[in-house]
Order: sequence, then structure tokens, then C-alpha cells
Amino acid sequence: MSNQVLQNIRTRRVIRHMTNEPVKREQLEQVLEAGRWAPTGGNLRPHRFVVVQNPTTRRLIRMVSPGMFQKAPVLILICINWDVVRQHKVPEHDRSFYIDVGTAAQTMMLAAHALGLASGPVTSFSQAAVRVILNLPESFSPEMFICIGHAAKVDQTGMRAWKKITWQDLTYWERFP
Ligand SMILES: Cc1cc2nc3c(=O)[nH]c(=O)nc-3n(C[C@H](O)[C@H](O)[C@H](O)COP(=O)(O)O)c2cc1C
Repeated sequence: MSNQVLQNIRTRRVIRHMTNEPVKREQLEQVLEAGRWAPTGGNLRPHRFVVVQNPTTRRLIRMVSPGMFQKAPVLILICINWDVVRQHKVPEHDRSFYIDVGTAAQTMMLAAHALGLASGPVTSFSQAAVRVILNLPESFSPEMFICIGHAAKVDQTGMRAWKKITWQDLTYWERFP
């Protein structure tokens, strides 16, 4: 893979050990801007990002997030703003809003990787507790944290090393036989 974008996709890994080196504001803004350019169903852009850098708030969030192994200097919480959904009279069972969380997440993680930053998504957290900690409006649902920071120099084998999956394993051509 010589193409830089493809190389970036191929080499990004979830990083679960981060240093406490701060993330430069300019880089953080670039990551957030990348999230803005993620594709979104109907171009409705229902996702909202809450950036958390305060150490006490981050500690509280870690306490209610069993799947957050990183002590990341920055947490970006991706929320769905259900007011946007209602304004556009889209049925709430439409799955696009959740898919939009994924497109924003992956776009931001690839941007972070391109900038030399480490990242990791976390959905294993108490939505109710995070709602209270961050004083989220009623219309916001907290869906996924993206931890952003700098990788610690420790073994980062990650979960993927457990199983070698190829794209061929995941792909069916045209139709099932
Ligand atoms: C929807 C979703 C939720 C995830 N939640 C967590 C999580 O709560 N904690 C965590 O450490 N990793 C989480 N991950 C990261 C996956 O475990 C990781 O992407 C997978 O093991 C593959 O590793 P790689 O992205 O480094 O290739 C999540 C990933 C996705 C897509």
C-alpha cells in the first residue's frame, strides 16, 4: 500500500496506553474538523462533539467507563442531538444516526493518526452517569468517546493480534451460492 490514505487506514490501531503529554489545540481542532466532514445520512449532521480536557472530569468519566483503559489527555464525546432528528421529522427508529456516530468516529481517528496522535473509541460507559457528569441537555444522547493522546511506548499488540482476519474472510461476492 503506497497510497498515503490507504497506508493511514492500514496502520491505525486502537491505542489503550497513552502518556499524559497534552494534545496541541491546533491538532485537536484538526481532528474535530475532520469529524465535521464525515458523511452523514441525509446530510442532517445530528452528531455533536463534547471535548473534555479537565483532569477531574476525565477521572470521573473513567470511573463510570469500564471499557476506557486509556488515561487520555483529551476525550471527545460523540453525541446524537435528537432535536435535529425531530426537526427533520425523521423516524427515531432510523438507524442512520448511529451509523453517523461511526463515520464521525472513524474519520476523527484517521485524522488523529495522520497527525501522529493516538486514539481509541469507547462505548463501554454508563450513559446515565456521563449525562450527569457533563450536564448534557435532555436532547443529547452520549454515544461514543474517542480518546485522543500520545501512545505510550509499551507493547501495543491490541485485540487484532489475537486473530488474523483478512478482507477475504469478511467478503461475499455478488450473492450467496
Ligand atoms: C463500536 C465500537 C465500540 C468499541 N468500544 C470499545 C471500548 O469500549 N473499549 C475499547 O477498549 N475498545 C473499544 N473499541 C475498539 C475495538 O475493540 C477495536 O477497534 C478492535 O479491537 C480492533 O482493533 P484495531 O481498531 O486496533 O484494529 C470499540 C470499537 C468499536 C467500533
